[in-house]
This record gives sequence, C-alpha cells and structure tokens, in this order.
Amino acid sequence: MASMRSSSPLLVLFLVLSVYSRQASGAGFLKVQNKFAGRNRTIADLGAHDSRRRGRILAAIDLPLGGLGLPTDTGLYYAQIGIGTPSKNYYVQVDTGSDILWVNCISCVRCPKKSDLGIQLTLYDPKGSQSGNLVSCKENFCSSANGGEIPGCLGNIPCQYSVMYGDGSSTAGYFVTDFLQYEQVTGHHQTKQANASVTFGCGAQQAGDLGSSSEALDGILGFGQSNSSMLSQLASAGKVSKVFSHCLDTINGGGIFAIGRVVQPKVKTTPLVPNQLHYNVNLKKIEVGGTFLRLPTDLFETGDRKGTIIDSGTTLSYLPDEAYTKLYDAVFANHQGLSFHTIQDFLCFQYPGSVDDGFPEVVFHFENSLLLNVYPHDYFFQNGDSIYCLGFQNGGVQSKDGKDMFLLGDLVLSNKLVLYDLENQVIGWTEYNCSSSIQIKDEKTGAIYAVDAHNISSAYRFELGLSIMLLLLMIMILCMVH
Ligand SMILES: *[C@@H]1O[C@H](CO)[C@@H](O)[C@H](O)[C@H]1NC(C)=O
Ligand SMILES: *[C@@H]1O[C@H](CO)[C@@H](O)[C@H](O)[C@H]1NC(C)=O
Ligand SMILES: *[C@@H]1O[C@H](CO)[C@@H](O)[C@H](O)[C@H]1NC(C)=O
Ligand SMILES: *[C@@H]1O[C@H](CO)[C@@H](O)[C@H](O)[C@H]1NC(C)=O
Repeated sequence: MASMRSSSPLLVLFLVLSVYSRQASGAGFLKVQNKFAGRNRTIADLGAHDSRRRGRILAAIDLPLGGLGLPTDTGLYYAQIGIGTPSKNYYVQVDTGSDILWVNCISCVRCPKKSDLGIQLTLYDPKGSQSGNLVSCKENFCSSANGGEIPGCLGNIPCQYSVMYGDGSSTAGYFVTDFLQYEQVTGHHQTKQANASVTFGCGAQQAGDLGSSSEALDGILGFGQSNSSMLSQLASAGKVSKVFSHCLDTINGGGIFAIGRVVQPKVKTTPLVPNQLHYNVNLKKIEVGGTFLRLPTDLFETGDRKGTIIDSGTTLSYLPDEAYTKLYDAVFANHQGLSFHTIQDFLCFQYPGSVDDGFPEVVFHFENSLLLNVYPHDYFFQNGDSIYCLGFQNGGVQSKDGKDMFLLGDLVLSNKLVLYDLENQVIGWTEYNCSSSIQIKDEKTGAIYAVDAHNISSAYRFELGLSIMLLLLMIMILCMVH
C-alpha cells in the first residue's frame, strides 16, 4: 500500500524487528503490527461514540480456544469465531501484539487451503454473505484506521489494509463489514450465540508463513489497543467492556479466552505504560533462584525502542543481551558440565531428571510489586525424550543493533490467567489451572457466571470420532437386522 512510506518510524520498527525475529525459526514468534505507529490517530469515531451512549449491554464473551503453544508443535493459540449470513466458522490466531482482525478471502493470492492443525479452513466471500459489505475509503473507519483521510480517495475505492508482522510475514487486502457471531455468556457454563457488526480485513494477499499450509489458520484476531480492533468495535457499540483475559494451557492444550470482568481468580495488576503501540509494562528486577541479577536500571526503561512487551502472539521470550547473558549464567550456574546442541536455532541439552528439581525459578518483578514466576518447566520446553530447550532468547544479539527490549511471550504467560483491563489501563496475572473455569461478571445484570476452558481442535476430532462410531453402530445394526 502507498501508505508505507519509508519515513514512517513504524516501517523502521518493522524492519528492525523482522531482522530480529527471522532467526527465531520459522514459526512466526515476534509479531509487530506496523500500520499505525508513529502517526497520530486524531479522528475519533464520533458515530461509534454516540452509539456507545445509547444503552450498554456489556455482556461477557467466551472465545473457544485451541492450540498447544509449544515452539516444537504449532506455537500458537487460536479461537473460533463465526462470520457472515449464513454464518461460517473461522479459526483465527489470537494475538495481543497486533490490532486488526482479518481472514483469508476468496480470490486470495497464496492463501492456504488446508491445515495440519486438524481444523477445516474456510475462505470468506463478501458476496456469498447476505450481510457482507465492502468499506470504501470515504468511510470514517477507513480514515480513522489510517490516521487521516486517504489521499486520492475518489468514489467507491475499497479501503485497503496491510499488516506486516515481526517474522517477515504479511497480509494485505481490503476492509469489509459483516456480522460477527460469538458465544455470549448467559449462565453458569452456558453461552448463546450473539452477533455484532464488525469491520475486518478481507485478506487478498499473504506472504511469508501466513501463506504456507502446514500450520495454517483462517486469519489473525488482533487484541491490540487500537480503535480498529474487534474489541474496540464491540466496546464502541456498547456490547462489552474493554477487558479481556486469557489462560493458555500447555498441559491439555487450548484454555480460556474471555471478554469481560473476571471476578475469580483475583488478579493483582501493574499499570500499562501509556501511549505505546503494544502492551508495555514496567519491569523492575529479575530474580533467579532467590538472587537478583545485577543489571543497570536503564535497561528496564520504557520507550519506543525499550520496554517490556506482553505478547500472546509470540511464543518465546526475548531479553536484551546483558539481561540474557546474566540470566543464562544464573540458570546454568550449577550445571557446568552440560553439553549443548542447537535444534532449529534453539539451545538444547539432555537432562535425565526433572528440570523443576534441577533448575532455579525465575521471577520477574514489575511495578506495583506484581511478580511473574516462571518455573523451569515453563522456560524450558521439551523436545523429545529428556531433551530440553531454552525458551529465552537473546533479543539483543538477534536484532544486531542493540535493541534493548524485553518481550514476554506464550511460554512464560501460559498456565496463568492474564488479565488486560484497558479501561483502567492495567494488566495482571495469577497462577491458574487453565483446564478449569473462571468467573466473569455480566455487567448488565450483575450476575456472575463460570466460563469453561476449551480445546477446540480436539473437540472437532471427538465429534468426528463420535460420528464415525455412530456410523459403525448403525452399519452393525443394519447388518444384524438383515
Ligand atoms: C478511539 O475511540 C474513542 C471512542 O470512540 C475516542 O474517544 C478516541 O479518541 C479514539 N482514538 C483515536 C486515536 O482515534
Ligand atoms: C443476529 O442476532 C439477532 C438477534 O439475536 C438475530 O435475530 C439475527 O438473526 C442474528 N443475525 C445473524 C446474521 O446471525
Ligand atoms: C487438545 O488438543 C490437542 C491438539 O490441538 C491435543 O494434542 C491434546 O491432546 C488435546 N487435549 C485434550 C485434553 O484432549
Ligand atoms: C485442573 O482442572 C481440571 C478441571 O477442573 C481438573 O480435572 C484437573 O485435575 C486440574 N488440574 C490440577 C493440576 O489441579
């Protein structure tokens, strides 16, 4: 798109990060949404603001989740949503590191047609949906999403979008508006289908991993802070509060992804750093096995090229060079004799015992005394029998320009309930069993409902298995009758 000028700090950021993460193997870890950064989005969506004033419903939403989040497996979590009339199912990666929702569209160049994830891919067809409409470059959404009026916008030219992610993959296409179907929480362990009109990207051209078929999904659901996100649109329409949470389950797969105020478990929070492109928080200290790493305090400063990002669309965690080196030394201090080898750029070693017994816990200390406890079974991931690989990466070396960012991804965020409260601009987490359920408040009625964990890919297989069993049973009965 013409809007990608080389003077945009955003593009520079993208180039830097793409170098930074390309080494991190093929599985798209670091994702950076690059469209809006460095520009002021000054046009407020007045229409949306007005409709927000008319009756708020503020329901809770349950997004059924699948995936296992291990770098050696798929390395990603995805949710199921419905789009269009009649509604069709789409599986989209959930990503707190980017903003918009997009799905692969019909007539797409290099869109995957099948996936190894055990899910069925569907191409969205705006003409095939009775409620699908193209968004023109004149509409408020388009100028708002682009930070101003579109130069050369004449007549009904479609509103284009393009997003580049940190692993070098990209998607481009045009915006459409259609009904989004979701599971509204209506009772304990109960949901009903509800819908809302949402504007999202219709992917016409995918590049990089997004075009490949092995771990393909239908698209990406960005949970970033921008007004163009699905969450912001549902909030502007008065449907939900801007509060969501995830619990990513590395033990059973899937987990919980819900929109709404969590009342159980109780979650301690830390403030978000204001006016950042990503979910940035203030990291203060790092403790390994009870001893604080001696690090200069300016390493933890936040800013355009510094800070600590929380990103569910990234699998591993990245530390600046100095922090990585000291953390590495402390983690392996009692294991001088280990011999390392690399598997797909990961640092791996053989270890016969339990890593939780042999290695120290790492604790990240954040502003407001919020701690992130990361156990050896979280920061090492298993790759075959007794082979463990380190899930921390040296971001400073990978960027080769001394980019001093911390980025905490799925591996360290999993098996915890992570809460993003955008209304109060805080983020927090607590240790949690992501195969269980959480309690969410319905802000319209004040009722508190339990929302369960899901593992959607296995549910699909189970249904398949069940229908095959039923078929066999019917054939047996038919045989017996004859
Ligand atoms: C986002 O939307 C809200 C409410 O609709 C508005 O107040 C705010 O100014 C918008 N932000 C931007 C950057 O357009
Ligand atoms: C959206 O929800 C309304 C109200 O529940 C329902 O009447 C309508 O059929 C739904 N539309 C679609 C496309 O599902
Ligand atoms: C969840 O789904 C994954 C496949 O995505 C599967 O490997 C795992 O066994 C499932 N877990 C359960 C508890 O069914
Ligand atoms: C987590 O919760 C599930 C569902 O309630 C339960 O079956 C399982 O035993 C729990 N796991 C642990 C470690 O407590």
